[in-house]
Amino acid sequence: MAASQKNWKARLASLEKTAAASLARADVAPKLEKLQVRWLGRKGLLTQLLKELSRMSLADRRTLGPLAHRLKTDLTQQIEERKKRLRRESLQKKLQDISLDSSLPGVPCAVGSLHPITQVEREIVGVLSRLGFSVAQGPILETDEYNFQALNIPPDHPARDLQDTFYLADHPQLLLRTHTSPVQIRMLRAHRPPLRIAAPGRVFRHEATDASHGAVFHQVEGLYVDRRVCLADLKSTLAYLFRELLGPSTLLRFRPSYFPFTEPSAELDVGCLLCGGQGCSVCKKSGWLEMLGAGMVHPKVFEQAGYSGSEWSGFAFGMSVERLAMLKLRIPDIRLLYENDMRFLEQF
Ligand code: PHE
Repeated sequence: MAASQKNWKARLASLEKTAAASLARADVAPKLEKLQVRWLGRKGLLTQLLKELSRMSLADRRTLGPLAHRLKTDLTQQIEERKKRLRRESLQKKLQDISLDSSLPGVPCAVGSLHPITQVEREIVGVLSRLGFSVAQGPILETDEYNFQALNIPPDHPARDLQDTFYLADHPQLLLRTHTSPVQIRMLRAHRPPLRIAAPGRVFRHEATDASHGAVFHQVEGLYVDRRVCLADLKSTLAYLFRELLGPSTLLRFRPSYFPFTEPSAELDVGCLLCGGQGCSVCKKSGWLEMLGAGMVHPKVFEQAGYSGSEWSGFAFGMSVERLAMLKLRIPDIRLLYENDMRFLEQF
């Protein structure tokens, strides 16, 4: 072996020998950086040795090369480990310096929740959307035409008395909608059938407030228009809706009723959830609870919207969200839903 090779081996050995001790003394990051440059940098000792290797014979490279490469991997690894250890130690020291008592209880973080009206409204709309209904919305400020006339309620119609209306003092042609049914007209005019629409929203009635009536409440309107839609479709849709909402054994009863915009019209009752039909104060001893108004879309409504009543038929229904929420969540007074008392709201 030539002298230069001997010398090369000696330099490699000495580097290897001192490396471990130098590393152990490097107790801060900058010292480590320095060592890294001194050994592995562009002009570093090991880099230099590797460069010299390329000028040696093939046989020497075969024997010496692996030694140098192994040392390079070793040093790189040791430097990395040392860096990690220093980082860990400095973090630990920092944590020790902060007087931290990990047994102290945490700071509670208030998590909000959906208002019961929103929860129940979403449940109703959720069932309907599984049946292919899409959500539609209309304005809260309506015109007399949409809220009444297009729904076959002319100005002198007695049904107007049933829905005591808030009119705007400065705009007598505008009113706060008394039901979500005007959304039916808006949808019929804006789209062509087949239509399947669920329209949730706020409605307003100028009437005295008590445990079961508010001047503001929420409805969900349903509208289904297609060819050959019949009363059986209405019944089966509502039966499915209420059994999903209140449980599969819910009793249902359809009663004939009257709405100017449906013919025939019906109201749907469910067996009282509280007494199971025995009769109690909630169902006023009747065993039944009134849930909604419904019926087949009146020919006059189709006419108003420019449809041929012989080609299209449909059903509509409108239900109060508050009523269902009160029954499902056992809320005894509608006013509780609007007082925003946290002790009440936190229960849902
Ligand atoms: N709009 C009616 C109400 O508010 C309910 C209803 C909707 C009835 C659709 C029939 C069809 O009382």
